[in-house]
Amino acid sequence: MRFFLDSAHVEQIEQAQRLGILDGVTTNPSHVASTGRPFLELYKEICAMVDGPVSLECISLKAEEIVAEAKKLVKIGDNVVIKVPLMKEGLIAVKELEAMGIPTNVTTVFSAAQALLAAKCNATYVSPFIGRLDAIGHDGIDIVSQIKTIYNQYGYDTQIIVASVRDPQHVLDCALLGADIATMGLDVISLLYNHPLTDLGIERFLKDWEKVPK
Ligand code: E4P
Repeated sequence: MRFFLDSAHVEQIEQAQRLGILDGVTTNPSHVASTGRPFLELYKEICAMVDGPVSLECISLKAEEIVAEAKKLVKIGDNVVIKVPLMKEGLIAVKELEAMGIPTNVTTVFSAAQALLAAKCNATYVSPFIGRLDAIGHDGIDIVSQIKTIYNQYGYDTQIIVASVRDPQHVLDCALLGADIATMGLDVISLLYNHPLTDLGIERFLKDWEKVPK
């Protein structure tokens, strides 16, 4: 299972890289806005530092404009993946971009039916947002399970990037379902390695080590 960092903050990307578990990065307009930096120089810096796919989101709403925007973004680096929101015009653009050899990540996906459409348009990646579904009383992981079943059933190559991941249980559920990728913030990554019993165990061993004759 691959781990992507869901962030546009260079320092956070460096921290995830230091851990040795970073396989790629997903950005979105909100992440970019939170850096306060001009987007083009930021995208260039991120693409240059990441050894793996970097999703950059199109903000256009018409298919032709999405394609034009994507053609500019893809020049930033060899690892650029074009993030396109799931909507009618987005799907038209995805089909076109994939036919041109430009990889896409269909984002803001909230149902398995939407994910089926993304696969039919040959999207390279699809991003179901599970945390936002949980937040309105749905079962986000259930959608991932349905997408996995559908993709296996028909042999679609579209890879599932589970997004809007909130906690270790989400990550574990993704792994058990065989999701290709989970994209998450540094806070979720730190929850994966931190455990109170581990802290206690280390503390106890270090205390006992003090009694060892030196
Ligand atoms: C995925 O690519 C999105 O950037 C992200 O996971 C959005 O999730 P959130 O805003 O609900 O955290």
